[in-house]
Amino acid sequence: MAEPFLIGDRMTGGYGGADILHGCTVAVEKGEIAVIVGPNGAGKSTAMKAVFGMLNVHAGAVRLNGEDITRLSPQARVAKGMAFVPQTHNIFTSMTVEENLEMGAFLRRDDISGTIDEVYRLFPILKEKRRQAAGELSGGQRQQVAVGRALMTRPSVLMLDEPTAGVSPIVMDELFDRIIEVARTGISILMVEQNARQALEIADKGYVLVQGRNAYTDTGRALLDDPEVRRTFLGG
Ligand SMILES: Nc1ncnc2c1ncn2[C@@H]1O[C@H](COP(=O)(O)OP(=O)(O)O)[C@@H](O)[C@H]1O
Ligand SMILES: [Mg+2]
Repeated sequence: MAEPFLIGDRMTGGYGGADILHGCTVAVEKGEIAVIVGPNGAGKSTAMKAVFGMLNVHAGAVRLNGEDITRLSPQARVAKGMAFVPQTHNIFTSMTVEENLEMGAFLRRDDISGTIDEVYRLFPILKEKRRQAAGELSGGQRQQVAVGRALMTRPSVLMLDEPTAGVSPIVMDELFDRIIEVARTGISILMVEQNARQALEIADKGYVLVQGRNAYTDTGRALLDDPEVRRTFLGG
């Protein structure tokens, strides 16, 4: 069986004290959507940081397109085609929407205007508000800025930590539709979601993490249909 496009393979590590991740594995295939769910404090954000190189992983490995990138810095991973939208502080609130997008392209030396246009096509409201400070936007619009900023490097993998946190169900559905659209362009999506049920609906692959370990791994559909997963993690 071929290796997934991106894999955090049996990662063990933490923030310097006791380990938070214990042999945790998450992965995503090319152009697919993988979703990580689980209770608060399960280590979902920590697993994302580990995959992005923000954590000391002292056992296990991270591989992208077959290449071992375990020792690369986050910035080197960006250069390899990875983009990460963290759970908090993911935009520059005092800068305009367009300045945020420009900041996202900091590694590029070529013309970025085409990519800005693509982001505006995906999120038309951002074009309307491009001269406004990002901090003045609604929660859902800010998340669009954060995703748009991440797309500015033209990544092959987009990692999102709770992109729908604090938005209404309608805005959540819209964001998920846009995320599906991004995946259809061939970009792999690895995301953490608190709205587990809705996220698993759009997931090719789902990971349920508990206390830094893989509790269940299957297709999104199979997890939604698993009575044990439903009862324990999806509220019945
Ligand atoms: N920067 C940090 N330093 C030390 N411990 C942390 C840090 N961030 C998170 N933790 C701890 O790691 C565990 C997992 O947290 P986290 O990955 O944020 O969980 P989740 O995203 O699943 O809610 C928690 O016990 C949390 O207290
Ligand atoms: Mg988290």
